[in-house]
Amino acid sequence: MPEDLQLLIDGEWRDGSGPLLRSVNPAHPHETVAEGATATGAEVERAVTAAAAAADGWRRTPHHDRGAILARAAVALRTEADAFGVELSREEGKLAAEGIGEVRRAAQILDFFAAEANREAGELYASPRAGESIVVSRHPVGVVGVVTPFNFPIAIPAWKIAPALSYGNTVVWKPASVVPLLAQRLARALTDAGLPDGVLNLVVGAGSLGQAIVEHPLVDAVTFTGSTTVGRSLIAACGAVAKPIQAELGGKNAAIVLADADLPAAIDDVVAGAFRASGQRCTATSRLIVQADVADQVMEGIRARIESMVLGDPTTAGTDVGPVITGDARDSIAAAVRAAGSGTRLLTAGDLLPDIDAGHYVRPTLVEVSDTRDPLWTDEIFGPVLAVTRVPDADTALRLANDSPFGLSCALFTSDLAVTLHAMAELRVGVLHINSETGGADPHVPFGGTKASAFGPKEQGRAARDFFTSMRTVYLQGRR
Ligand code: UN1
Repeated sequence: MPEDLQLLIDGEWRDGSGPLLRSVNPAHPHETVAEGATATGAEVERAVTAAAAAADGWRRTPHHDRGAILARAAVALRTEADAFGVELSREEGKLAAEGIGEVRRAAQILDFFAAEANREAGELYASPRAGESIVVSRHPVGVVGVVTPFNFPIAIPAWKIAPALSYGNTVVWKPASVVPLLAQRLARALTDAGLPDGVLNLVVGAGSLGQAIVEHPLVDAVTFTGSTTVGRSLIAACGAVAKPIQAELGGKNAAIVLADADLPAAIDDVVAGAFRASGQRCTATSRLIVQADVADQVMEGIRARIESMVLGDPTTAGTDVGPVITGDARDSIAAAVRAAGSGTRLLTAGDLLPDIDAGHYVRPTLVEVSDTRDPLWTDEIFGPVLAVTRVPDADTALRLANDSPFGLSCALFTSDLAVTLHAMAELRVGVLHINSETGGADPHVPFGGTKASAFGPKEQGRAARDFFTSMRTVYLQGRR
């Protein structure tokens, strides 16, 4: 039986008035995971109005009370982690273990921002004038529009919604339409934990609802994760009215393997970076730059690992790789591989699109590229495809890693300290891993990219407050 989908508007769970939405299992597309009516423009309007009306009450709620609600929701998510994780796997297609891990990660994020509510909220400065102090205080921004992608249906929403709420903002949230059930699970955990009416509003439906939230004059700021194309149109819409937006966009992340690296460990991490969650992570490893002396050995190691991977239902024990999110995603990934130029060499065997229960599967694929202008090398594919090329030395590797419009994450595998220090100075990325895979983001440290991979302040850690608060400078003269 499919789960019921509802909207959350002004504290009330209710059916939408728009067209029916069904989320399906990408491993068994005939199977509906959840269904319900989507929101209309009028319901977006009501959600935004409710968030605006709730803003003063929530802003004035003591921060300990705000944090306590987040902490209670974290407990609920941990209690339900196994059940929600399997639902996540059925709706999104990543392995059940990855789904369960993601729900636990959402709980960690809620806990981190629950505790952040207790930290100092400003600075005190001396003044050049006698009798005066200057206080810089932090305040909520107001109503935050949250637009989230399919690939982390609960962790990415948590890392936007938790700081928004902890710092005293109210939220209108539009999750990706293919993963509405997990959105409902997170919103329920928060309302059941005692979130007041109107503080969090959830609308599900098409992308146009997200656009309506972003453009609404009562929405004070927008946080978005998703494709560069959609992100840029939202950035333009916000720019036109000087509305702050934080956007996490695409990546074309490189792993560099140098000859002095621990090669078996590097191979493990490149495989995990490229193929976990079927490569559908903005932090996924999609370019491998390997020093020529060890290139054949590394490529053969990765190829052998790929050939032993079991594709199939992500909720079944023993599966290594699940499906990608939709049939369209599968087709566009396959088209990108097939369009590769004549200078490329396919290193893996087997059907690119294996037929398993009509699911949306793409076989993990390794392709050697000799011309780094090939679109396989330059464009984000968002699937289990790893392009590899050889370089003579570390300097060439770093230059090639930087030769991309994107700048999200990079992994460098080496045991050379001097090369490591040089890479830390030279690589133009927001996240750099030395001897570990390109993916991953801990809640207590900043996350985000540079160049075309991001716009606006970083997410997570203390850095989150730079987006979710506004500063006020108060000149405090005690006597005249
Ligand atoms: C991770 O690699 O665990 O959309 C996090 C994404 C990123 C998050 C990646 N914003 O894939």
